[in-house]
Amino acid sequence: MGNEEFLKIDNVTKVYGKHNVLSNVTFSINEGEVIGLVGPNGAGKTTIMKIIVGLIRDYSGNVYLQGRNIRDKTKENRKNFGCVIEAPGFYPGLTGYENLKYFAKISGCEDEKEIDDIIKVLKIEDFMHKKVGKYSLGMKQRIGIAQAVLGKPDVLVLDEPTNGLDPNVVLEIRKFIKYVAQEKKIAVIISSHILSEIESMCEKVIFIKEGQIVDIVSLEQEKTVQNTIFVFKTKTPDRLIEFLKRNEITAQKDEACNVVANLEKYSIKGIFKMLEDSDISVEEVYKQKQSLEKRFMQTMEENEVE
Ligand SMILES: Nc1ncnc2c1ncn2[C@@H]1O[C@H](COP(=O)(O)OP(=O)(O)OP(=O)(O)O)[C@@H](O)[C@H]1O
Ligand SMILES: [Mg+2]
Repeated sequence: MGNEEFLKIDNVTKVYGKHNVLSNVTFSINEGEVIGLVGPNGAGKTTIMKIIVGLIRDYSGNVYLQGRNIRDKTKENRKNFGCVIEAPGFYPGLTGYENLKYFAKISGCEDEKEIDDIIKVLKIEDFMHKKVGKYSLGMKQRIGIAQAVLGKPDVLVLDEPTNGLDPNVVLEIRKFIKYVAQEKKIAVIISSHILSEIESMCEKVIFIKEGQIVDIVSLEQEKTVQNTIFVFKTKTPDRLIEFLKRNEITAQKDEACNVVANLEKYSIKGIFKMLEDSDISVEEVYKQKQSLEKRFMQTMEENEVE
């Protein structure tokens, strides 16, 4: 327990009229963990995020931060979330720096060094003394993220933080998110439609569709499993499968009549040694790469609602 349950979303359901926008959503996040919320338009990503940070209060189920229900609106509880959901409300007539100073102050952070640090790590010095009213979309998004981490929240919630940003900036934001999670022990929840982006930042990905969680993938686990799956090209797939099964290796044929095997306990070298003594010839072997993208597409199709 303890760390496991740093933030717990417990059986959350949200209804608008007759429409179940979220149905029994349950997941949890560890301290300093980065999780991704992925799903198509209208899946319910923004709605979950709004519930987590307290922007929507009318829902069933519960959200606990370190064991405390966020419905108990104590002063401490309110300070625990930093978020960028939809456009943050900055003062257009003030510069970026003045805005940050103002937001820092109202979130209880009086330390200017803290502001300077965040500006530096996010690499947004260039436009800090320009008026926010003259900011581009990317500038607004980045100052939004800066504002969200001021006041040292326990949980940072970013709704599509890299939407519409150029690749260099996406890289900076990615680094920044890893930095706040690792160095400041902030739990981060990010949403996106773009899976590859989430993949590079998160330890865990939650797939959501039509208000329901359809899969939760731990990327660490995924990597180790993927490392042991090999594809064998052979003229005699059935015999190879037989052979592997005799050696307690799970294997099956794919659409192209190749043999896909999970080697787990064996090295590929070991398999070849064993095959040397048999009369099965293998023409080619490669590691199977099932991208999360493919899995995502499959998961979404499997869960097609009638
Ligand atoms: N205030 C509201 N009243 C009624 N329905 C709403 C309201 N807000 C959201 N919804 C509905 O809830 C569903 C989920 O919306 P939500 O914004 O959470 O999706 P999303 O996953 O963030 O989508 P996107 O990828 O487009 O941002 C949608 O069907 C939407 O129409
Ligand atoms: Mg959304």
